[in-house]
Amino acid sequence: MVKGKSSSSSRWLQRQFKDPLVKQSKLDDYRARSAYKLIEIDNKYNFLKRKSAIVDLGACPGAWSQVASQRIGTSQLSNDELVTWNHGMVLAVDKEVMRGLPGVFVIDRADITSSETLKRIYSFLSQRKVDAVISDMAPNATGMHKLDHERIMELANTAFQVAQNCLKTNGTFLCKIFQGSLLNGFKHELKTSFESVQEIRCQSTRKESTEMYLLAQQYKED
Ligand SMILES: C[S@@+](CC[C@H](N)C(=O)[O-])C[C@H]1O[C@@H](n2cnc3c(N)ncnc32)[C@H](O)[C@@H]1O
Repeated sequence: MVKGKSSSSSRWLQRQFKDPLVKQSKLDDYRARSAYKLIEIDNKYNFLKRKSAIVDLGACPGAWSQVASQRIGTSQLSNDELVTWNHGMVLAVDKEVMRGLPGVFVIDRADITSSETLKRIYSFLSQRKVDAVISDMAPNATGMHKLDHERIMELANTAFQVAQNCLKTNGTFLCKIFQGSLLNGFKHELKTSFESVQEIRCQSTRKESTEMYLLAQQYKED
């Protein structure tokens, strides 16, 4: 391993070890501390309603999908009930291998920037529209702020395309970004498709991070 990488891994391990939310996530049986970000946002804006249908992009290891399936009510359903979507639906998509979760459909090893992945998502939905598209996708950090910003904005743009293809009228789009020069242009684009667009900084986001979420609500279909 190169020297820089090994010291950043050990910094990461030390931070994980001390982080109270990492400990809490183990107690609450969430796969990652990111669960608390979605909980915080949904406690305020309440868009993960019972029986709704959700697409979760960049879902691995699965904490957001766990929160979504608990709030929507799919986590306790049998497979027969799940396939009908009558009681809600959560679809998790990630480029990595993702362990299955109760009440969650998984499309993994699926890079969202490839047309093959988009085909798999749309074929799974088969013309049905969803209530929310949520994206916590992030590129592997290089530590070069401008590059990381540009890469996450590409992912956010792709997530927005997915949202435009599959959201119901009045649906919700939530996506992670890192602050930077492309933010205002992206917000401007979202405002043409949604009634409201808000910037959210979660309490559980680490102080040194430029991470933010954009919450776009009330999708206006073209
Ligand atoms: C911060 S993690 C998501 C954590 C997740 N929300 C949770 O609560 O467990 C970001 C995820 O985005 C995924 N990702 C990054 N680029 C992607 C891409 N091009 N296509 C699909 N997933 C991607 C990564 O594999 C990673 O699992």
